[in-house]
Order: sequence, then C-alpha cells, then structure tokens
Amino acid sequence: MTETNFTIFHFVITFMLILEIKIQLSDGSESVVDRSKRGLIHVPKDLSLKTTVLNISHNNISELRTSDTLSLPKLKILIISHNRIQYLDISVFKFNEELEYLDLSNNKLKKISCHPAVNLKHLDFSFNAFDALPICKEFGTMSQLEFLGLSATQLQKSSMLPIAHLHINKVLLVLGDLYGEKEDPESLQELNTESLHIVFPTRKEFHFMLDVSVSTAVSLELSNIKCVLDDNGCSYFLNVLSKLQNNSRLSSLTLNNIETTWHSVVMMLQLVWHTSIEYFSISNVKLQGELTDTNFDYSDTSLKALSIHQVANDAFTFEQGNIYRIFSNMNIQNFTVSGAHMLHMLCPLQNSPFLHLDFSNNLLTDTVFNNCGTLVRLETFSLQVNQLKKLVNIAHMTKEMKSLQQLDVSQNSLSYDESEGYCSWTISLLSLNMSSNRLTDSVFSCLPFRVRVLDLHNNRIMRIPEDVTGLEDLQELNVAFNSLAHLPGCGTLGSLSVLIIDYNSISNPSAHFFESCQKMRSINAGHNPFQCTCELREFIQRIGQVSSGVVEGWPDSYKCDYPESYKGTLLKDFHVSPLTCNTALLIVTIGVTGLALAVTLTVLCICLDLPWYLRMVCQWTQTRRRARNIPLDKLQRTLQFHAFISYSEHDSAWVKSELLPNIEKEDIRICLHERNFVPGKSIVENIINCIEKSYKSIFVLSPNFVQSEWCHYELYFAHHNLFHEGSGNLILILLEPIPKYSIPSSYHKLKTLMAQRTYLEWPKEKNKHALFWANLRASICIKLMERSEE
Ligand SMILES: *[C@@H]1O[C@H](CO)[C@@H](O)[C@H](O)[C@H]1NC(C)=O
Ligand SMILES: *[C@@H]1O[C@H](CO)[C@@H](O)[C@H](O)[C@H]1NC(C)=O
Ligand SMILES: *[C@@H]1O[C@H](CO)[C@@H](O)[C@H](O)[C@H]1NC(C)=O
Ligand SMILES: *[C@@H]1O[C@H](CO)[C@@H](O)[C@H](O)[C@H]1NC(C)=O
Ligand SMILES: *[C@@H]1O[C@H](CO)[C@@H](O)[C@H](O)[C@H]1NC(C)=O
Repeated sequence: MTETNFTIFHFVITFMLILEIKIQLSDGSESVVDRSKRGLIHVPKDLSLKTTVLNISHNNISELRTSDTLSLPKLKILIISHNRIQYLDISVFKFNEELEYLDLSNNKLKKISCHPAVNLKHLDFSFNAFDALPICKEFGTMSQLEFLGLSATQLQKSSMLPIAHLHINKVLLVLGDLYGEKEDPESLQELNTESLHIVFPTRKEFHFMLDVSVSTAVSLELSNIKCVLDDNGCSYFLNVLSKLQNNSRLSSLTLNNIETTWHSVVMMLQLVWHTSIEYFSISNVKLQGELTDTNFDYSDTSLKALSIHQVANDAFTFEQGNIYRIFSNMNIQNFTVSGAHMLHMLCPLQNSPFLHLDFSNNLLTDTVFNNCGTLVRLETFSLQVNQLKKLVNIAHMTKEMKSLQQLDVSQNSLSYDESEGYCSWTISLLSLNMSSNRLTDSVFSCLPFRVRVLDLHNNRIMRIPEDVTGLEDLQELNVAFNSLAHLPGCGTLGSLSVLIIDYNSISNPSAHFFESCQKMRSINAGHNPFQCTCELREFIQRIGQVSSGVVEGWPDSYKCDYPESYKGTLLKDFHVSPLTCNTALLIVTIGVTGLALAVTLTVLCICLDLPWYLRMVCQWTQTRRRARNIPLDKLQRTLQFHAFISYSEHDSAWVKSELLPNIEKEDIRICLHERNFVPGKSIVENIINCIEKSYKSIFVLSPNFVQSEWCHYELYFAHHNLFHEGSGNLILILLEPIPKYSIPSSYHKLKTLMAQRTYLEWPKEKNKHALFWANLRASICIKLMERSEE
C-alpha cells in the first residue's frame, strides 16, 4: 500500500466512524407518532424507522400483518385499541424486539396465535370477544409482565396455569356478557397478581359465584355490580364479599358502578368491616329504597378509610337519619362522602376517631355538626361545594374541634356581617379556605387567631382593613379575584410571605409595599388594571429590583390598562422621564434654565456689548432694505463715488489709518475734499461737489467736528432740503461721544439725529471692529458705472 492509498483508506475509515456515531445518536431520539381517530383501515406505511411510540387507536383497522410492523424495529409502545381486529398472530411482532407495551383492548379479538414476546411489560387484551382466556403457554416466559388485560366469557382454573408463576402487578379481567353460564368459582385460584380488577357484564344482574378471595391480590376492584331485582338483597354479591373475610392479604377494595338498595350497601359495609380491608371505596352508585333502623357492628375492624363518591338516589324523600347515624359513628380515620346529595350529618355519639372528613359536593347546611363536641381528633375537614350560608355558624361549628387544623369551606354562599356577632373559631385552625363565597371586607373581623394560610380568592372584598388584628401568624394570603383597590401593607401582617392578589382593581399600587413586607417570598399581583402614570414609576422600579422568582407572572401578567395609549403595554416596557413626573423638579428646571439664560444674556450684554451688536445688525438690515427701494440704474449713472467723507482735522489720523484702509479695500471709491479738490472753487463748493457725486456722505463726528466743521454743512443741507428727503444719504460715525451741552443750540438737525441715535458708534473694543467695518461697507456698497477719474 502506497502512502497516498493509506491516507485515503484512513480518511474513509474516519468518515465511516463518524457516520456510525451519527446513526447511533439519532437512534437515541424518541419518535412519537399519533395517528388515532383518522379512520385508518390499515397500519400506516409511511412511518419513520425510528418510530418508538405509535398510537393508532380509534380507527377501523381489522388486520395486523408482519409487513405492518416489520419496518418499525424501534417500536416500544403500540396502541391499537378501539379498532376492529378479530384475529391476531402474535408472531407479527417477532421483529419488534423492543416492544414493551401493546394495547389491543376494545377490539373484536376472538382468537390469537401464540408466539413468545419476552420483553412485554404491558399487554392488554381487555374488552374483546374471547370465549376462553387468551393466555398462551408462551406467556409464561414474559417475566417482565407488569400489566395483563384479559377478557373472556368463561373462566377456567387451568387456563391461568401458564402464568401462575409470574408476579404480575395488575390484572384486568373483563367478563363478557355471556359470562356466568357455567361458572367455576375457584377459577382465579392460580392468578398471581398484586392488584386485580374484575369487570362484570354490564347488562346482567349479579348472579355470580366467582370467589375473588382466592386470588393473591392485595388490592381488588370490582366493576358493574347490579342487583336491583334481587329480593334477597344482593345475596350473590354479598356472598362474594363475605368470602373476603377469610383473605387476610386484601387491604384495598374498590367497588365501581353499583346499582342496588341502601340496605344492600349497608350490608356490604358491614361485611367489609370485618375483613382485613383498610381502604374501601365505592363510586358511581345508584341507590333505591329506604333504610330501616339497622344496627351496625363497628367492632373488630381493620378499616381506616371509607370513600363514597357520586351517589344518585332514585327517591330522596325517605328518612335518612339511619344512614347518618351509621356514618357518623364509624370508627375509622378517613371518611369521604362526595357528590352524594347528602343533606345532613349527625354528631358522633362518642369521641370520634375521625381524622379527615371530606363532605365536598353535597347539600349540607350551616347546621352540620352544630354544637358537636365529639369530633375532638378531627384534623382536616372539607365542606367544599355545599349550601353553607353564614360564616359565623361555621366558626361556631369548629369551636369544639380541638384538633382541627385545616378547614375548606370554599364554593359555598358564605357571608358575614359584624352584627351577627363574634366568630368563635377553634384556636387550632391553621389553614382556612373560604374561596368562592360572598364574603366582604367584614370577613377580616371573623378570622381564626393563629391562621397561617388563608384563601379568600373570588369573594367581594374591596379593602383589607389596616387595623386588622390577630393575623400575626398569617403566612399565605390569597385574595385574587376580588375588588381590592390597593396592595395591603404588612404592618399588622408581620409574617406574610406569600400574597396572591391578581385579578383585582389595583390601579396604583404603592411602592411602599416592598418596604412594609420584608418577608415576602412570593407575590402575584398580575392582571390588575394598572394606571400607567407617573405614580406607578416607583412601583415598577421596585418590582424590577426585587429578586426574580418573587414576583409571580412578571412581566407577562402586568400590563397597563390606562391611559388608552398605553393599554396592553407591559409595565416592564413603560417608561416616562423623571422630568415629566416630578413637578418640583420641573419648576426647578424651568427656573434654572431661565436663570441661566438671563445670566448668559447679562454676561453677553456686559462683556460683549450685545446691544451694540444688535444695533449694528439692525442698521445693516435697514440699509439693505433702503438700498432696494432706490432705483439703482438712475443712481449708477450720476454717481462717481461710493462715499464722501468729512472729518475734522483732529480726527484725520483715525480716518487715514483706520477708516480709509478698511473701506477702500473692496473697490470702493471715496471722495475726500482735500484729495479730490477742484482748484478755483471754494472749500464749500468743493464739498458740495463731492457730496453730489457720492452715493453716501459719511461724517466722522467728534466734539472737534461739531465745534469746527458742522457749520459748513448746515447751510447747504438746509438749502437742498436734504434733511427732509430723509437722511438716507447720510452716515454719521460717532468717533467719540459728544456731550449734549457741547452741541450749539442752533444745530437743530444734529440734535435730532443724535437724539434718534441714527449714527454708527465707533467701538473701542478691537473685536467689534470687523463688524463695524462690514456694516459700514454694506451701507455704501453699490455698483457704479466705470468712469475714468477726473
Ligand atoms: C369502518 O369500516 C366499516 C366497514 O368497512 C364501515 O361500515 C364503517 O363506517 C367504518 N367506520 C369508520 C369510523 O370509518
Ligand atoms: C392515543 O390516542 C387516543 C385518542 O386520541 C388518546 O385518547 C390516548 O390517550 C392516546 N394514547 C397515548 C398513550 O398517547
Ligand atoms: C373461613 O375459613 C374457615 C376455616 O378456614 C371456615 O370455617 C369458614 O367457613 C370460612 N368462611 C367463609 C366465609 O368462607
Ligand atoms: C386520610 O386522608 C388524608 C388527607 O386527605 C391523607 O393524607 C391520608 O393518606 C388518608 N389516610 C388513609 C388511611 O387513607
Ligand atoms: C381552596 O379551594 C379551592 C377550590 O375550591 C382550591 O382551588 C384552592 O387551591 C384551595 N386553596 C388552598 C390554599 O388549598
């Protein structure tokens, strides 16, 4: 092998290894397929090889073939109940080596062909059409079998033999309608199971003699016991029960779907009383007849718990005192009567061993156990769904129940009014369920002292009084589905650690809650109509700080209800700025901003001489506007200079070093009377000549100028009416301030101009000079016709 070949070989091996690992990994994944209720007539063919669970129950499948199951090597659980299969060859599963659970109940199976299926743990052939028990000798190898469902119309002891050595957990034996023609009472003798459930034929009176006591079962359930026509009072069935007395293994008995008389039921009870049975349960009972005064022998019993569920009475007008008397004096720990239309219960005559009573779903009223002092050991008591009305009576009922810890009076019509008097609960009560009643705020003055768990959900409570006393031990409070508007404080509820207060009317919960309730482990306040306004911010903040897991349902159950624009928004996502919410802060902010603005303005005014700038800007804009109003072309034709400048000799230094360099630089032509002097004319004539050829006249004003030069112009101006046409052509630069008194009183025009402040002030500060010049240039800037200078 060359080196290259070896490398390729190596690569291929690695690739195959990876592939194999991948296949193994995908094997591990479960594949559950539900094709129930599809009207299928065959097992579907399009199933994945990896299918481990297949449910094809409630279809119309009539046949199972090897080809149906061949392609399902990983199948573990197969449910084909409620189909129409008549015949089964168990060898169809020979390739389903991992099959553990096979449910073929409720088919039409009559016959099976055998094949070992050693891995089966659950095999259900119940509710089929077998005559004899479908037990093959191959079943003897199913050592893992935990559940076996069978059905038959005949039982034979011998047919059980193949599985007699197995230790099956539960056997369900359904007897077909034809059962009972030829009975072998001993037929269950070889059945080795922990738990046995026998379903007798539905439509038949119980005339069977099957000895159920011979089985090894510890737990026995018998369904469909009908003995209404039997004048001997259900004698066959009672006979079956009586045999249980010799079976000391049996500890639990359940009877299901019984149709008989009151008398027979009491007889059954009496028989069970003297067996080894500890738990006896009767459910779905249809009773008729009356109960005459019977003596009940309570002695010598193993019974601990009796449950009676769902009792329908044909006639409920008879005197029930006898039944209540028998029930109430039973010497057992647990007693349940539910869904039995029970109207009353008597107080036990002697101290009763009842520990747990459950009378839920009956018609009991407030009078139950009134003034009853013999239930001294009772620990838990349920009166859920009855006809209880006044809480004060219930409190009174518990008064003598010295051991009562848990009471459930939920789903009644309980109410309490303080005028009804004081509630004298037993002090032992720790947990009280009063949910779904008609209780209002007043219930808080009718609570047991040491109660730790209080369920008041779905009542009519609007407020938890702040001064509620005696609830120092309360740990769990459920007040969901009430009309509370506020979260309670924990001031008087010092131990509260669980609070359920969802579905109330809390719109503005106070954040103070979290400070007050330090021990809170869990709070659920969701589904309240939260008002998403400023007041809620602190609460949301606090809820966010609380460690996760404490606030149940956060954040999904906490939504804004108001205002409309926020409706449906999660509280978590509700944000408003602190500024909008804090009025004081708002006022302070506005104040501070205003102040800052004022200070800035002042600083600007003082340091930068803002008014000066403003004036300059103002003049600039005015110049612009004026310039627009003058017919330009006309001006352009007659004018030769942009401006004429007049100044005092004293100021000539400033004019030459500052003014001229700064305005002449942008192609602006200036007429100076001494520079553009026309010989032969007087100074005044020369000045006037200059003025007429210039667009603007600039006068550099200073005290010197006013004193010595102004006189040159007054006359001319007056003559040409220049002042009245508007001083548009006049630009006054105030080089130095001129005290008012220094202006001679005859210079009216100067005085007016000064008063109107229509002059440009020469700023002393250097940084203002640029703007000054710009402004000045703007006011004299105009496009002039090119002319040769004269
Ligand atoms: C099942 O099949 C039978 C006979 O083919 C037919 O009469 C019946 O309607 C089918 N039932 C369902 C639920 O499809
Ligand atoms: C199989 O499907 C039926 C009908 O849909 C359903 O009642 C049953 O619970 C399913 N069984 C299992 C084990 O999923
Ligand atoms: C119980 O067993 C004893 C003796 O083993 C027998 O005498 C008695 O008749 C049996 N009782 C019943 C009800 O089978
Ligand atoms: C009695 O009832 C209580 C409370 O329901 C339960 O915890 C207990 O297991 C029952 N005891 C018996 C013997 O059934
Ligand atoms: C109170 O009873 C109701 C049913 O009526 C039940 O849903 C609830 O869980 C019970 N409360 C407690 C604290 O057990």
